[in-house]
Amino acid sequence: MTELDTMRDHMLAAIAASASLDALDTVRVDALGKQGRITQLLKTLGKMSPDERQVQGPRIQALRETVASAIATRKAELERADLDARLASETLDMTLPVEPALVGTIHPVSQVMDELAEIFADLGFAVATGPEIEDDWHNFTALNIPESHPARAMHDTFYCEPQPDGDGSYADGVARKMLLRTHTSPVQIRTMLTQKPPIRIIAPGRTYRSDSDATHTPMFHQVEGLVIDKGITLGHLKWTLETFLKAFFERDDITLRLRPSYFPFTEPSAEVDVGYTMVKGKRVIGGGPDSDGGGWMEVLGSGMVHPKVIAACGLDPAEYQGFAFGCGIDRLAMLKYGMDDLRAFFDGDIRWLKHYGFSALDVPTLSGGVGA
Ligand code: PHE
Repeated sequence: MTELDTMRDHMLAAIAASASLDALDTVRVDALGKQGRITQLLKTLGKMSPDERQVQGPRIQALRETVASAIATRKAELERADLDARLASETLDMTLPVEPALVGTIHPVSQVMDELAEIFADLGFAVATGPEIEDDWHNFTALNIPESHPARAMHDTFYCEPQPDGDGSYADGVARKMLLRTHTSPVQIRTMLTQKPPIRIIAPGRTYRSDSDATHTPMFHQVEGLVIDKGITLGHLKWTLETFLKAFFERDDITLRLRPSYFPFTEPSAEVDVGYTMVKGKRVIGGGPDSDGGGWMEVLGSGMVHPKVIAACGLDPAEYQGFAFGCGIDRLAMLKYGMDDLRAFFDGDIRWLKHYGFSALDVPTLSGGVGA
């Protein structure tokens, strides 16, 4: 064995024995670095005689190549081992369930609003919105409830402190009283002012009246419905309500009773009762209202949009007619899901929410059953 063979064997052993990339690099510097032993050997070539160089040159070069390639191979091995170790220690099981588990629920009011949107979307209705802080023109005047009208007093309105900018009028020069909307009907006005017929909208949202007991809270929810087109009749109203209530309560044996009533913004006006039956001491919507313990329950107000309201929105009442309805959403939720105290809706009690809430993953669809 020549001296070079011994050196090669030593180096190859050191390379094989390197347990880390750092250790391997020390071996590399030792052999091939600027002061490395092979580098030093290569430097000796210049001082050799041509004959000697002919013999030693290829041998030293061969040694250099052998060592360099052994280092490269070992480096790749160590890098792969390094990666395997990281993959093993940093592994994440993407199939594990989300932590913490889903704890929040969808409030029954939100659920019912989603159900309404789904049902009415299927009938070609869009969802419209309006401000909860309204002015008295949209909330009352344009709805044919003038200043002195007794209906204004009946609404138990929350008025805002007047905020006139200096001269007693608002920025646009029109003096208006601001209030918390007492119903969703002002959205009828806002929609007719900004959209051209045919109009088909529902407007769910918060409404406010100064009233508080087991069945009334100062803030509650309504959904407004509005259809404006040519040739709209009371028949369209009745069919729409019947279709809506059947889809909402998910039963075909829904009976409706339209009772003549009065709203300033509809003419004629009708209050709508729905038939219920008694099941285990609870009122259940549907079935024969004439059965034992059964009866009628008022669920919404409705009517043909008053010609004065249509005119107030700049449309010609001789050309356009329509119907409108308004319905308490909280009430709908109670009837469908069986709560009996409205106040609990707004207490934020986590036990109530867990019990009556809905999974965020259960989006209502007509095909899946809207209350699923
Ligand atoms: N706005 C009425 C209320 O709050 C309900 C209603 C809406 C009646 C539309 C008729 C038409 O009582």
